[in-house]
Amino acid sequence: MIRYLTAGESHGEALTGVVEGLPAGVPLTASDLNEHLARRWLGYGRGGRSKIENDKVHVYSGVRFSKTLGSPVGLRLDNGAYEKDRAGWPETMALEGTGEDVERVTLPRPGHADLAGAQKYGFDRPPRGPDMRPVIDRASARETAMRVACCSTARQMLRELGIEVGSHVTRIGQVGFEEPGDWQDRARDLLAEEGGARALYEAADESATRMIDPDLTERGVEHIKETKKERDSLGGAYEVVVTGVPPGLGSYAQWDRRLDGQLAQAILSIQAQKGVEVGDGVAGARRYGSDVHDEIIRKDGTGASLKRRTNRAGGIEGGVSNGMPLVVRGYMKPIPTLIEPLDSVDLESGEPQTTRYERSDVTSVPAASTVAEATVALVVANAVLERFGGDRFEQIRRRLTEERDRQ
Ligand SMILES: Cc1cc2nc3c(=O)[nH]c(=O)nc-3n(C[C@H](O)[C@H](O)[C@H](O)COP(=O)(O)O)c2cc1C
Repeated sequence: MIRYLTAGESHGEALTGVVEGLPAGVPLTASDLNEHLARRWLGYGRGGRSKIENDKVHVYSGVRFSKTLGSPVGLRLDNGAYEKDRAGWPETMALEGTGEDVERVTLPRPGHADLAGAQKYGFDRPPRGPDMRPVIDRASARETAMRVACCSTARQMLRELGIEVGSHVTRIGQVGFEEPGDWQDRARDLLAEEGGARALYEAADESATRMIDPDLTERGVEHIKETKKERDSLGGAYEVVVTGVPPGLGSYAQWDRRLDGQLAQAILSIQAQKGVEVGDGVAGARRYGSDVHDEIIRKDGTGASLKRRTNRAGGIEGGVSNGMPLVVRGYMKPIPTLIEPLDSVDLESGEPQTTRYERSDVTSVPAASTVAEATVALVVANAVLERFGGDRFEQIRRRLTEERDRQ
């Protein structure tokens, strides 16, 4: 199984990651990972940090001559903010010394990890506090840059197996599609193109909001501009689709082997993601069963191979992939840092005080959708390894091809 760990603070020197469990022989270069790191910066409404960072990952182990070795893959990503920002981060984030001269953060921001994290690790009072800088810096979504890099190694394995992951944004605040049926024709056309979900994400990447509808894109951008003027922030929703998935990934046999449960965890593990649905989950709750379940039909009239008339289940039944594209939707809360102050209490003085604005996005839904692609890819890659696994990539490919021929 592929496991990964990340380390690093948002304003520290660098982020690092270790990916363990990739089979030997997967074609992999840094540029494969950098493609997705660049996509993480997409979207109208990003804050000042997007101008400082130039995410290029350094792969320093586990790969030789552009192929994985089966040994851990080591990754490093420098934080541009550490050196380029004028805020003095090398002093603020110094690994040694007492930090006596460094400004402390004593006002927790609602919607952030600040207060809960400080209470947990004792940064809310002496001797370690009050100073929420350690919480802010690790809870920050800067961490998702390394997550994208780590998970994109697994995504590269999927690509080599003909399994593609893509996404598009379905809502920014008030602007979006109302029901899944409103966008599914356009998404289906894209998914039918060569490349499957890759065609979907490439079309979405063309839009300033990663929406596949030009009218919604325009309205989405206007909505973000207006919201910025009103000194507020926005959340939204997106859909991640995986194509080329064979039937039989995941299992109904044990709770933690259900593919839908694992995908939900992958989405909710991302900062600020507060809801998830598989297929038409939420809309389905309002409908009759006859409008929800995907009827089974013969692919070629012989009865030997089968397909579904629709894909409202999002490609999963009983926790097992059924051969249709996987569809998972994520819902993101509005960005917690607002220009308009919110009420809080200073931990040093104990006095009520309103929050101060720091550089921030108005919305990060387009970015979150690309991070969700990465975390979903890792889950699917592990399900593939569980089903067809081996230490060598060629073995996995052979077994998967055999299974595809059987369908
Ligand atoms: C890609 C991405 C970018 C984000 N950018 C910001 C940001 O610029 N400002 C901000 O206040 N929160 C941002 N967030 C959200 C916070 O990281 C998140 O709300 C916070 O860490 C608290 O975690 P929680 O929302 O899961 O409770 C971003 C989240 C993601 C996924």
